[in-house]
Amino acid sequence: MKYSAAPLLASLLLSPLLLPAAEPDGIRLSIDLATPGRPISPDLVGVFFEDLNYAADGGLYAELLQNRSFEYSATEQPGWGPHTGWELVQGGGGEGNLGLGDARPVHPHNPHYLILTVTEPGSGVGIANKGFDQLPVEAGKSYEASFWAYQAYMGIMWKEADQTKPMPVSLQLQAKDGTVLAEARVAVTGRAWTQHRATLTPTRSAPEARFVLMAHAQGGLALDMVSLFPRDTFKGRANGLRRDLAQTIADIRPKFMRFPGGCLVHGPGVHRYYNWKDTVGPVEQRRAQRNLWGYHQTFGLGYFEFFQFCEDIGAKPLPVVSAGVCCQHAGHSPGRGQEGLPLAEMSAYIQDILDLIEWANGPADSKWGAVRAAAGHPAPFGLKYLGVGNEDAITPAFRERFKMIFDVLKAKHPEIVIVGTSGPFASGEDYDNGWAFVRETGVPLVDEHYYVSPQWFWENLTRYDTYDRAGAKVYVGEYAAHDRDKTRSTLRSALAEAAGLTSFERNGDVVQFASYAPLLARRNHTQWHPDLIYFDATAVYPTINYEVQKLFGNNAGDTLLPARLEGVPAGVRVTGSVVRDSATGDVVVKVVNGEDRAFDATVVLAGAATPTCHLTATVLTGASPDVANADGQPPAAVPVVAESEAGATFLRAFPANSLTILRLRR
Ligand code: AHR
Repeated sequence: MKYSAAPLLASLLLSPLLLPAAEPDGIRLSIDLATPGRPISPDLVGVFFEDLNYAADGGLYAELLQNRSFEYSATEQPGWGPHTGWELVQGGGGEGNLGLGDARPVHPHNPHYLILTVTEPGSGVGIANKGFDQLPVEAGKSYEASFWAYQAYMGIMWKEADQTKPMPVSLQLQAKDGTVLAEARVAVTGRAWTQHRATLTPTRSAPEARFVLMAHAQGGLALDMVSLFPRDTFKGRANGLRRDLAQTIADIRPKFMRFPGGCLVHGPGVHRYYNWKDTVGPVEQRRAQRNLWGYHQTFGLGYFEFFQFCEDIGAKPLPVVSAGVCCQHAGHSPGRGQEGLPLAEMSAYIQDILDLIEWANGPADSKWGAVRAAAGHPAPFGLKYLGVGNEDAITPAFRERFKMIFDVLKAKHPEIVIVGTSGPFASGEDYDNGWAFVRETGVPLVDEHYYVSPQWFWENLTRYDTYDRAGAKVYVGEYAAHDRDKTRSTLRSALAEAAGLTSFERNGDVVQFASYAPLLARRNHTQWHPDLIYFDATAVYPTINYEVQKLFGNNAGDTLLPARLEGVPAGVRVTGSVVRDSATGDVVVKVVNGEDRAFDATVVLAGAATPTCHLTATVLTGASPDVANADGQPPAAVPVVAESEAGATFLRAFPANSLTILRLRR
C-alpha cells in the first residue's frame, strides 16, 4: 500500500538532511551515516523490580517452601497465622501436635518458631509443606533442604523421652499420593539452635510434591527456617534466584535495575518503610514483615541478593529509599495522607542511607562493608545511583525531608547520582511542583511515571523534544500502555511502548533510563495488571511487551544518527529512531508501524563508507493489534529474524502493526 500525502512525520525528524525529496507516491527513510551524531544514554533500557504480585517470595526468590519461618500473621491476610502452609503429619500410628514458640528464637528479628511435639512416634510425626500453590520437583535434580532446630522438652518433665539420644529426623520429598521420591536422615542434638542440611534428589518428577520433615522418637523439636531450594538457581547462587525467571529478565540485557519499589519503599505507614538493613545478613536474622501489597515478605531476597543479581546480569543497581515521608495514600487514606518522619528522627534515618552507601561501596574492613564482605562480596558493588522518594506528593513535609537527605548525600557522597521524583503522573500538580523543586535544588535525575493508554504514547512522541538540555536528566522509572480493560498486554500496547521507546532514544541526551512496570506477576497472586512477565510454579509467560523490551535492550546504541522519514501523512502512527552502537559499529534502525496497513519505504543510507552492508532484520508483529499471548499457547507475536545483504538504497516493507529493527553491519 502507498500513502498518498507526503508531509514529514515530525516525530522522526531529527535534523534536516540534504537528500533528494521523497518519491511522490512513496515513503523514504533517509539516514545520515556520515555525521558523528549526538551522544545518547547507553543505559536507556533497564528493569524495575518491585515485590508485588508475589514477585519475590513465591517468585524470583527460589525458596520453594511457603512460610518457612512461621511468621505469617493475620495482619497480612485474614486467616493467615504461623502454621499457614504447614500441616501435621502423623505416620503409621504416630501422634503429636504443633505448637508455637517465641521464648528463645533463633534470632530476635525472627521471633516465632514451631514446636513439634511427638507423643507417639509411629513411623514419623512431623510437618509438610506444599510450597506456593504447588511444589514441582524434577527427577534427578538436587534440592537443598535445611532447617534450624533444637531438642525441646529435655529435662525431668519428660522422663519418657530418652534424654541421652539425639532426635532422629527424616526429610522427604513425596509425590501427591505419598510415594517417597527422595529421603535423607539427620539427627538433632541438644538445646542450642543448630542448622541442619541435606540434599534430596527425587527419583521421578512430580508437579505437586510435598516436603515432609518427620521426627522419629518421643519428645519434641523447636523448628525454624525450614527451607528447600533447587540447587540449580540462577548462576548457582546459594539463597539464589529462580533460574528461568532470572534468565528471562537477564535476556532483556537491562543496563540497570531499580528496586525494591515503587510503593513498597514507603511501606504502609511512616515508620513502616522498607529498611534495607532488615534485608541483609544471614537469612535467619532478617526481619520479615508484611508486604505493602498484602502478603508476606521474608527479605530472603534482600539487598545483597539484589546487588548480586545486578552484577550477574551486568545491570547498574539503582536502589530507592523513602524520602522520609510515607505515601500520600498510606494507612488506607486516599489522597493526601502523607506523613513525615519526625524531624528528630531524620538524622538517624539519613545515617541509615549513608550506611547503605558504605555497605555497597565501602572497603571490606569498614563497618558496613564488612557486612557485605561477610556475605561473600569483599569487593565494592560500585553503587552509582540512588533513588530518593517514589511518586511523592510534593508537599512542604516532603520538600523539607528530601532536602535534608539530598544535602547530606551531596556533601558526603558527590559521586552518587541522586534520583528525585516528579509525582505519580506525567503531568499535573505534583509533576509541575516536582520539576520546579528539582530545578530549585539541582537534583540531577528525575523519576517520571505514567500508566496511560496506547494512544497517549502516540500523542506524546515529542514530549521530551522540549525538555531543557542543560537541566536534570529524566528516568522514566515506571511506564506502561494500558489497553482497554487495563488487563491486556496486547500487541497494540506493546507497539505504543515501542513508539515511546523510540522517542526516548531520540531524546537520549535527556532520557537516561527507562523501565516498564511492573516487571513480574505470579498467576493467581496478581494485584496489578498488566505486567511484563507472568509466571506460575513451573513456567514463565512473557508478554509481547516483554519482546519489545528485549528488542530494545538488545539493540541499544550510544549515538543518535540524523534520520528523516518522508511521505507519511500527519497523524499516522508511524515513528522510529536510528542509533549507532559504538562497541560494534552497527547502525540500528527501529521503525514502529502502529497502523492496520503495511507500507513500503525506500531506505537510503547516505554517506555509507561501503556500498553494501549486512542487514539483520527483526520484525515483531501479529494477526491484529488485539492479540495477546496466552499462557501455555504459542506466542501471538514473536520476533522473526532474517539476514540479507543490502545496498546503500533498498526497499523495505513495514508490516501492519509491527516493530521492525534493521541492524546494519559493515
Ligand atoms: O508499579 C506498581 C506501582 O505503581 C508502584 O509501586 C508505584 O510506584 C506506582 O504507583
